[in-house]
Amino acid sequence: MKALYKSGAHAGFELVERPEPEPAAHEVKIRVLATGICGTDLHIQSWDSWAAANIDAPLIAGHEFYGEVVQVGVEVRDVRPGDRVSGEGHVVCGICRNCRAGRRQMCIRTESVGVQRDGAFAEYLVLPETNVWVHTDPSVTPQLGAIFDPFGNAVHTALSFPLVGEDVLITGAGPIGLMAIAVARHAGARKIAITDVSAPRLELARGMGVDLAIDVSTTRIRDAQQALGMREGFDIGLEMSGHASALPEMIDNMNSGGRIAMLGLPSQPIEINWGKVVTHMLTLKGIYGREMFETWYAMSAMLQSNPVLRQHISSVVTQTLPAADWEQAFDAARAGTAGKIVLDWTAV
Ligand SMILES: NC(=O)c1ccc[n+]([C@@H]2O[C@H](COP(=O)([O-])OP(=O)(O)OC[C@H]3O[C@@H](n4cnc5c(N)ncnc54)[C@H](O)[C@@H]3O)[C@@H](O)[C@H]2O)c1
Ligand SMILES: [Zn+2]
Ligand SMILES: [Zn+2]
Repeated sequence: MKALYKSGAHAGFELVERPEPEPAAHEVKIRVLATGICGTDLHIQSWDSWAAANIDAPLIAGHEFYGEVVQVGVEVRDVRPGDRVSGEGHVVCGICRNCRAGRRQMCIRTESVGVQRDGAFAEYLVLPETNVWVHTDPSVTPQLGAIFDPFGNAVHTALSFPLVGEDVLITGAGPIGLMAIAVARHAGARKIAITDVSAPRLELARGMGVDLAIDVSTTRIRDAQQALGMREGFDIGLEMSGHASALPEMIDNMNSGGRIAMLGLPSQPIEINWGKVVTHMLTLKGIYGREMFETWYAMSAMLQSNPVLRQHISSVVTQTLPAADWEQAFDAARAGTAGKIVLDWTAV
């Protein structure tokens, strides 16, 4: 099969022939049809210090995918050949305290697809049956299915706190921040504001129906509050940029008792006004991955019941390129000026 292969501890990928993986007894073999390109894949491509510390090369990267099941192991019970699927990329141990308690997203021995085991940038992928998410809704296209993993990040973060009637501030209008707008709207938020420093991404946010898209390179969030007719501050914050200046400014704009869910991964220490956190009784909650598998149920259910949400989430994919043109696709993802870039693995 063709695969985007990281042959060793160095920058770059090679599109080469690799042996097809065989499913173990509890695993499913999937013909990959479409994959999303994520920030993690850009780190792996450039082989920065994070990649050097976290990646077991040689490796096939990629963890955001949609495909069709072609073969199942002897112990697989529910998933069948022909099923159209996406998959949870965190493979858990099943026996640590959190796994046994059903909090699998908190497993202490998580193995990540496309990071510590071979991933989805290939014609075939194997995954444990328990990680496979079968799409029963035919309106989920390969492009939409390919972004279920980051959609799940947006859903997990946005649904961390009740949103009905709340004023919501999202920092970072990358693909995940954009999807969070649509999810917050679905969940009943009153005003939704988003920040970024990229004009095209703020424009995409307006297309998602945000009430205010704020360019924080020129405008302060405090001024934006006035534009929205707000007087006391935001009730809910969703940090989705990872940028060091986003969280402090968010904290500065929260109402007393405000709640913040943090998804963005900071690459450096962040200076926080802990006095405000204490005296304003703010809650800060870290978010990793997706809840297994409540987030997945919520994603499928919300898309099925709300065609506007489905249209908005689908619109986050701004470009689909043949997998053969992967270099061009990675360049587009690295530019960070569009939405999600998807690779089509039927054209490799
Ligand atoms: N915790 C998890 O499980 C998890 C999973 C996936 C992604 N992430 C992280 O979530 C974040 C969002 O993911 P994404 O794929 O949308 O990433 P992205 O990098 O495409 O989006 C981040 C956005 O933040 C913007 N930004 C930069 N400086 C800013 C500032 N000062 N204020 C506001 N916005 C600013 C960038 O222009 C960009 O549009 C990233 O930090 C990513 O690493 C975390
Ligand atoms: Zn990802
Ligand atoms: Zn575990």
